[in-house]
Amino acid sequence: MINNSLMGSSSIFAHIAFISVVTLEFVICVCGSSASGLKPCDFPAIFNFGDSNSDTGGLSAAFTPPPPPYGDTFFKRPSGRFSDGRLTIDFIAEGLGIPYLHAYLDAVAPNFSTGANFATAASTIVPLPDVLPLGGYSPFSLNVQYSQFIRLKNHSIIINQLGGFFKGLLPKEEFYSRALYTIDIGQNDIGAGLSETKSMQEIRDSPIPMIISNFSANVKSLYEEGGRSFWIHNTGPIGCLPYTFVPFPVASSQIDSAGCAIPYNDVSQYFNQKLKEAVIQLRKDLPLAAITYVDLYSIKYTLISQASKFGFEKPLVVCCGYGGHYNFNSQIRCGGTGEINDTKVFVGSCQDPSKRINWDGVHYTEAANKWIYDQLVNGKFSDPPISLNMACHR
Ligand SMILES: *[C@@H]1O[C@H](CO)[C@@H](O)[C@H](O)[C@H]1NC(C)=O
Ligand SMILES: *[C@@H]1O[C@H](CO)[C@@H](O)[C@H](O)[C@H]1NC(C)=O
Ligand SMILES: *[C@@H]1O[C@H](CO)[C@@H](O)[C@H](O)[C@H]1NC(C)=O
Ligand SMILES: *[C@@H]1O[C@H](CO)[C@@H](O)[C@H](O)[C@H]1NC(C)=O
Repeated sequence: MINNSLMGSSSIFAHIAFISVVTLEFVICVCGSSASGLKPCDFPAIFNFGDSNSDTGGLSAAFTPPPPPYGDTFFKRPSGRFSDGRLTIDFIAEGLGIPYLHAYLDAVAPNFSTGANFATAASTIVPLPDVLPLGGYSPFSLNVQYSQFIRLKNHSIIINQLGGFFKGLLPKEEFYSRALYTIDIGQNDIGAGLSETKSMQEIRDSPIPMIISNFSANVKSLYEEGGRSFWIHNTGPIGCLPYTFVPFPVASSQIDSAGCAIPYNDVSQYFNQKLKEAVIQLRKDLPLAAITYVDLYSIKYTLISQASKFGFEKPLVVCCGYGGHYNFNSQIRCGGTGEINDTKVFVGSCQDPSKRINWDGVHYTEAANKWIYDQLVNGKFSDPPISLNMACHR
């Protein structure tokens, strides 16, 4: 304990000197790390959960792969991705120096040593009855993806102890707490509501709050299993995607200046508002978790509404589709064939997908996904505003 009597007039100078030493130490400590004084995270693995926005081959492994020209731009063959090339999650992996994620469901030569991808196209947060192969949605809803994660984790712990060949194909036990957990899901829960043509009020009254609480419960479960760093994408502007507004058109007064369907985007924004509230609550409930909320909606809407500024053209017109103002027909889809006026047509790619945003009416092109990644990587659209490689920090 400092004797109060020593705190005379001269001690003020001592005090200032002390502060400057501390400041100097701080400056020295900052060297070699970031401007905020935090060190970049060393994520050894990524575990991803979601739908077709981040499916790197899950649905293809379980059912059938999307046909050519899917994959043409980058992989030169269908890769199980619903795009002409890489997805945002591929660019995230590249950015963190991690190989592209193998789908958990892929039984052919998978390597999970740096993570796994549980996302499948057509997945929802809440399970729906209408699932493949008879219905349209994926049976691998978020809680099923979580069960698969638990199985991978439990088995990798056992196999790591046993040693041998498979040890090299599975994550180390410590990776489960050090990994980045990425989640991008909800678009199909919203899509399911839209196609039932529910009113905004009906959507507000029931499904979305229930969907979000199911989402939160899954994040809590991942935390219980050791997950600490979460990177959560909100949902994009579903009213800017032809697969909603072509089969379910809205009145012209309901179309905004970008050409998007306002009522559908309102549902996305309502979902995102509830998701953001849920993330704020999760931060309170999970004191050791770093949870980054990433505003994909704003990124995607900026791209679509100002396409030419960023070197893109025809933002609402589908690259790989057939017919009509938006080059989209929900009966004759990308890579498929159909009969039009007794003539067989094949639905192929547009001339230059690198200038286009919408690939097949539902999904984005590789060029758009890269642009989206370039916006999200530095944290400009994140809450808190931290970059991807800092996402382990609260
Ligand atoms: C699995 O991936 C890791 C990380 O890229 C790599 O070091 C390892 O050699 C791969 N294992 C096999 C058997 O290919
Ligand atoms: C995983 O392991 C934990 C602890 O050993 C056990 O309680 C749990 O039932 C296991 N879960 C599965 C799905 O195997
Ligand atoms: C999510 O909803 C499904 C179906 O309603 C339910 O079976 C599951 O337990 C819920 N998951 C969580 C984690 O609340
Ligand atoms: C099919 O033929 C009819 C009559 O010639 C024509 O009006 C229509 O536009 C054609 N449909 C398509 C999709 O080309």
